[in-house]
Amino acid sequence: MLTIAISKGRIYDEAMPLLASVGVRPTVDPEKSRKLILPTSRHDVQLLVIRAADVPTYVEYGAADFGIAGKDVLVEYGADGLYEPLDLGIAKCRLMTADRLGSSLEGRRVRVATKYVKTAQRYFADKGVQVEIIKLYGSMELAPLVGLADCIVDLVDTGNTLRANGMEPRELIMNVSSRLVVNKAAMKMKHQAVTEFIRQLRDTILTTASAA
Ligand code: ATP
Ligand code: PRP
Repeated sequence: MLTIAISKGRIYDEAMPLLASVGVRPTVDPEKSRKLILPTSRHDVQLLVIRAADVPTYVEYGAADFGIAGKDVLVEYGADGLYEPLDLGIAKCRLMTADRLGSSLEGRRVRVATKYVKTAQRYFADKGVQVEIIKLYGSMELAPLVGLADCIVDLVDTGNTLRANGMEPRELIMNVSSRLVVNKAAMKMKHQAVTEFIRQLRDTILTTASAA
């Protein structure tokens, strides 16, 4: 059995066509069911539906052989204990700093609201900028509007969320897309099945890319 950890919503929706191309179609819709383990049309593959930030944990500890997670989540987790063989090219966005339109952060100690605490700390430390990080779990765009923080570190795609809240993107921290990650022990113990699955997915991605 191969077990794949994946989060509901955006990554699930965008990963489904890729998984379908290698014959993996869940037989239960996670939006309609409370089931957390989803059987699929392939008897040797099941999906675990979990929170996005939990995917690296399930894979590192071997509760799942594979995971699909954003690069943002993997960098924040510090995924040295995982193999990352494939960029799936889905759920693309950018991790950026952002603040209120026209505001200047020059010359003062900056408060940064984010759920990417370690990544933000490393980014500002590398720039030699002293910051105070305020950990939030979502809706970061609100923090500068109500004086909780001076700026944020968050994901930006269309920029609509920032614009709707009178903010603008500033500095790019990293480009983000979802990656396939693999448990290191599974790579050894289930070598043939794991490498074959990676090969099939890679073929799909290459075919899609060359058709585009
Ligand atoms: P949870 O719902 O568990 O709190 P989450 O809000 O991070 O987690 P999603 O919004 O589905 O879950 O985001 C999952 C991943 O999708 C992110 O880690 C990132 O890689 C990517 N992502 C998030 N927002 C966007 C976006 N606006 N456009 C493209 N990709 C995105
Ligand atoms: C993500 C992210 C931003 C938004 C950026 O939130 O946290 O708020 O997308 O996308 P945009 O630039 O296209 O507006 P999401 O929609 O996933 O909601 P969430 O707060 O539930 O994570």
